[in-house]
Amino acid sequence: MADARIAEAVKAALASVEIPGGGSLAGYGGLSEIIVTTGAVAFAISVAPGMEVAFGPARVAAQAAAERVVEGRKVMVSVTSDRNQAATGQAKAQGKPGPAPREAVPGVRHIIAVGSGKGGVGKSTVAVNLALAFAAEGLRTGLLDADLYGPSVPKLLGIEGKPAVREDGIFSPHEAYGLKAMSIGSMLTADQAVVWRGPMATSALRQLLRESDWGTLDVLVVDLPPGTGDIQISLVQQVPLAGAVIVSTPQDLALIDAKKAIDMLRRTSIPLLGLVENMSYFVTPDTGTRYDIFGHGGAKAAAERLDLPFLGEVPLHMAIRETSDSGRPVVATDPDGPQAKAFRDIAGRILAAQPQLRP
Ligand SMILES: Nc1ncnc2c1ncn2[C@@H]1O[C@H](COP(=O)(O)OP(=O)(O)OP(=O)(O)O)[C@@H](O)[C@H]1O
Ligand SMILES: [Mg+2]
Repeated sequence: MADARIAEAVKAALASVEIPGGGSLAGYGGLSEIIVTTGAVAFAISVAPGMEVAFGPARVAAQAAAERVVEGRKVMVSVTSDRNQAATGQAKAQGKPGPAPREAVPGVRHIIAVGSGKGGVGKSTVAVNLALAFAAEGLRTGLLDADLYGPSVPKLLGIEGKPAVREDGIFSPHEAYGLKAMSIGSMLTADQAVVWRGPMATSALRQLLRESDWGTLDVLVVDLPPGTGDIQISLVQQVPLAGAVIVSTPQDLALIDAKKAIDMLRRTSIPLLGLVENMSYFVTPDTGTRYDIFGHGGAKAAAERLDLPFLGEVPLHMAIRETSDSGRPVVATDPDGPQAKAFRDIAGRILAAQPQLRP
């Protein structure tokens, strides 16, 4: 069935879903557009602040009704109210119900997020290689690509196609280089990703986290989109995080952006595990000469100023770019080489500070 026909069928199915106060969900003004992709269908129900719990049964019924007509696609339904975090705090202070409490992901012992203030600083490269370095240390490790708008984990790990969906609707993550990996990128085409905003993104994140068969993991590394948007906030709200790693390049500009991400995390209770300086210095492939082209050391100095652990520096090196872009990440394919060592040292520092991550 074509996408538009599926969307219509879902809308029709929602006519049977009752909402609080009477009436059907199909006719409800807070129902979002119904987005249909090759692998998934998503829509959001926006409700007045404080009404999220009351709409819970409608969400469940909507999910079931939609599932009957989407021909095997995953259905992602979210209930959102448009209060922001500050408003949530106020509501709590006034004794009104807050958002659902953070709930651990079954089987996943610890979650570490990798974030940055701005795009293109090498967050995904660091997330993938850090996850591989944890795996090399004997940790059962997963990788979740939460960058809905620019998913890159499938490319970095050389993963193709959609993850398998079990009979009960649970995803079976891809396995690559010993990692269990899930990415929204496996389910969307590039032009579809841009429409997954706000509530849709929150819902997709929840389902990737909670409706994937992670088995038992010591650590799940989450590759975040750049900045401090919906995904970052909903991750922080949805699950307890062991901590966050911030990636920055040495340029001052990137550090100013990194500071925004750090400030946002400091307003939550998420521990900041530290700062990684990526593309720290340039090593020529032929002679191995090192050039500090970007004014190397900026992140280290900034980490000190910001009272953050400095986790290490990763050189700008062709081998890192080439292996990343061809789905053969350097920590997996050349684990004893100097580039891999940079990532393994970072993993080592995190593990030294956070021994509870070990099995
Ligand atoms: N240390 C490095 N040496 C050489 N190339 C690198 C290095 N780190 C990242 N790159 C390259 O830079 C590009 C951007 O990296 P990456 O996709 O990891 O950044 P990102 O911060 O995740 O970007 P986005 O904000 O788009 O998610 C990629 O082509 C990657 O291969
Ligand atoms: Mg990325």
